[in-house]
Amino acid sequence: MNQIARLKSMGPEPNVTKAYGETSALRGASMRVFTGEFVAVIGNSGSGKSTLMNILGMLDTDFHGSASIDGVEISSLSAIAAAKLRNKLIGFVFQSFHLLPRLTAWENVALPLFHRGTPREVRKHRAVKMLEKVGLGDRVNHRPDHMSGGQRQRVAIARALVGEPRLILADEPTGNLDSGTGAQVMALLRTLNRELGVTVVMVTHDREIAAQCDRSIEIRDGLVVSCEENE
Ligand SMILES: Nc1ncnc2c1ncn2[C@@H]1O[C@H](COP(=O)(O)OP(=O)(O)OP(=O)(O)O)[C@@H](O)[C@H]1O
Ligand SMILES: [Mg+2]
Repeated sequence: MNQIARLKSMGPEPNVTKAYGETSALRGASMRVFTGEFVAVIGNSGSGKSTLMNILGMLDTDFHGSASIDGVEISSLSAIAAAKLRNKLIGFVFQSFHLLPRLTAWENVALPLFHRGTPREVRKHRAVKMLEKVGLGDRVNHRPDHMSGGQRQRVAIARALVGEPRLILADEPTGNLDSGTGAQVMALLRTLNRELGVTVVMVTHDREIAAQCDRSIEIRDGLVVSCEENE
């Protein structure tokens, strides 16, 4: 299977490390994610999960060691090159949705295409199609504050997918949802992973949710301590 993401050591350096001033957030993380997988990242609060996701997502290139996405070494990319590659390869889903309140559902979903310079009619067509895929075909002109938490997160998932990325990075996508709605969002991500073949890496505190993934990567105090296949 092809590797879509990899963190590893470079020469004599330890595996990927990252510090915020005096605080060591990652102390030697190495991991691989294969194309098509649905992987959970688990670990206590402060263990380094979001730090790891920010590195994988090229939101943070200020780290030591080697990381690659889709075969491209990302540790030495310029900010502009990272932004371009990120727009092409990666879709993000965050705990707090990060939707723009003044935009309608379809306009939010279409944002990654806007940044690529896609014409408005094409953007709208693709955004509406993606909203239909996540079950929100009847909400395309609603603004986020007229939607439930689960609906907002589905808009965010549609936005993450609209540009046909190879990798979805989701940092606690169910963290702000009640357990029933969280289970629905999880099921949706799972379906999209299978149907579209998109690789998903998802941070979760919830062991039950992690158990539904193909594999769990556990981080403890900035170290990847285990990568387990789930049954
Ligand atoms: N911007 C920052 N400035 C300084 N320290 C930071 C910053 N971001 C994270 N840290 C520190 O780095 C460590 C790892 O943080 P990180 O956000 O990766 O943890 P996490 O596993 O995502 O936690 P949580 O489950 O609470 O989201 C923590 O000790 C945290 O305090
Ligand atoms: Mg976090």
